[in-house]
Amino acid sequence: MNLSTWKDFLAILESNTRVSQTFETLLSSLTFVERGGSPLSTLMISSTQPHEGKSTISALLALTMALAGRRVLLIDADARRPKLHEIFEVSYKHGFTDILDAGSSLTLGDVVQKVPIPRDRTAIDIIPSGTLLPIHSNPLASPRLESLVKAASEQYENVLFDSPPALSVSDPCFLAPFVKGVLFVVGSGTVQERDAKLAKARIEKAGGHLVGFVMNRFDATRYGPGYHPYEGYYDPTKE
Ligand SMILES: Nc1ncnc2c1ncn2[C@@H]1O[C@H](COP(=O)(O)OP(=O)(O)OP(=O)(O)O)[C@@H](O)[C@H]1O
Ligand SMILES: [Mg+2]
Repeated sequence: MNLSTWKDFLAILESNTRVSQTFETLLSSLTFVERGGSPLSTLMISSTQPHEGKSTISALLALTMALAGRRVLLIDADARRPKLHEIFEVSYKHGFTDILDAGSSLTLGDVVQKVPIPRDRTAIDIIPSGTLLPIHSNPLASPRLESLVKAASEQYENVLFDSPPALSVSDPCFLAPFVKGVLFVVGSGTVQERDAKLAKARIEKAGGHLVGFVMNRFDATRYGPGYHPYEGYYDPTKE
């Protein structure tokens, strides 16, 4: 399965019911987990370590939301290994790090790039990572972060932030207190339970509210045929 651009992701959502149903279920679950009666309008996607699938899950979830008719903004808050500009085939220049800059007067609208989804006559709005910064800088420590998250939540139904891994860098801890929820991606078979617990604790200590986990690359066949006893139950093509 080659997942490189949003067109591949869209093709998978349209052709593979297992994938599309998984993401629709995730979207429903997130809709049910509402805090204090208010929707989960801002959501950070993080994980313990690199390559667990944060950017992939962020892009697929954002597309699922857009296809469901929601007004979605997807922000690349991973200034260290930005990926969303590649997936959505937009320029990474003029993005999140540029509006976070303390001296900047740019607004969200100045750095948003619209990616139309032709068949559905909808679009997904992307803010790429922005100007690359020196390795030790931390753009998310910006005093502008809180007001930018608030402004985004006022303009969009759903704002998703793809972020770096919580055990590798402190960036997600700066964003965690300002978003309504944190979705934690767990790379199946790749992350140690102890490390995942440590990463979760870090995010919670920073004021983040974990609303769920996504097990990525989970291979149900390894756990035997009885692992999903209800799979296929609602599929009339399966006996
Ligand atoms: N469920 C999956 N099936 C197949 N390939 C996947 C899956 N999830 C992720 N990948 C692939 O694994 C690689 C890493 O995924 P991705 O970039 O989403 O991880 P990440 O957690 O965002 O990484 P980083 O920590 O570097 O930001 C990518 O090449 C992606 O296409
Ligand atoms: Mg990534």
